[in-house]
Amino acid sequence: MIDKIAGLIANIEKKSINSAEELEALRIEFLGRQGILKDLREEFKTVPGPEKREVGMALNELKASIENKLATAKEVLEENEETQGEGMDLTRPHGGVPLGSRHPISVVRRDILDIFNRIGFTVAEGPEIEDDWHVFSGLNFPPEHPARDMQDTFFVEKNPDLMLRTHTSSVQVRAMETQEPPLRIVMPGRVFRNEAISARAHCIFHQIEGLYIDKGVSFADLKQTLLYFAKEFFGEDAKIRLRPSYFPFTEPSAEVDVYWGLKTEVDYRITKGTGWLEILGCGMVDPNVLKASGIDPEIYSGYAFGMGIERIAMLRHQIGDLRHFFENDARFLKQFSSAF
Ligand code: PHE
Repeated sequence: MIDKIAGLIANIEKKSINSAEELEALRIEFLGRQGILKDLREEFKTVPGPEKREVGMALNELKASIENKLATAKEVLEENEETQGEGMDLTRPHGGVPLGSRHPISVVRRDILDIFNRIGFTVAEGPEIEDDWHVFSGLNFPPEHPARDMQDTFFVEKNPDLMLRTHTSSVQVRAMETQEPPLRIVMPGRVFRNEAISARAHCIFHQIEGLYIDKGVSFADLKQTLLYFAKEFFGEDAKIRLRPSYFPFTEPSAEVDVYWGLKTEVDYRITKGTGWLEILGCGMVDPNVLKASGIDPEIYSGYAFGMGIERIAMLRHQIGDLRHFFENDARFLKQFSSAF
């Protein structure tokens, strides 16, 4: 009986099944009510005691073998049916088209603009290729200022008066030249600097500039606006501090830090142990800058601020390397797909 079972198992393994009918026939042949397995079980009853164990095991093996064969053959048949004509069901839902996602820089840019739109700032834009006046001279940069150096700025070879703008402050000048105060604008855009590319610096990055000019605008207004921004962007608990700084186009000038916290080791590392992180530069628009654009500093005053979008996005998402934003590796970008 053992030999008979072994022979059956060998046959099962060799058998090829090409249709649903063949599959069903094989099932009935072995597992049906009058099938081979039923007969063998009857025969099993006559097996003498000492042999029962071995024959029983062989029977189990046969059962597993036929069940296994039927299951695999069924799978193969179904697969073929799907991919080969006839049985193909055109109404079945497909796997779904993978959706792209917004780039983290454009998400952060939009969020920042939204926050300022809510308090009355409108968006203004300007050209990326600019002249000396809008990037430097109109902003009170002295002629020998180091930013005017080839080391820092990409100049247009054939016309040294033209360059890729190094900051979005150039758009301020264009706005002040063409519009009467009050002015309340945010100016997003790409900027370019002649810097070696590293985890912390890139030759292209994005800034958002803010400008508010009206009668009686004070430093307190600036501080309050920036505190509002920090709370909206980083959360209600956000704290800011202002450190005195210098920019040719603002007086007084400050750099603004946001409190990041010192709870973890990472916090220590990224804040260099202070708990604070710099997010932007700002100040009261220098009277010389107002005058240069035809606005009377005796009547009007204003504030300006400028922030790097990459920097803010790195803070929000704890991204350690600026270059990720420009390499557009889908695995990196996919992580922000929920950030619509
Ligand atoms: N333009 C400055 C920079 O690129 C930022 C800034 C803008 C500072 C406006 C003060 C006022 O670093």
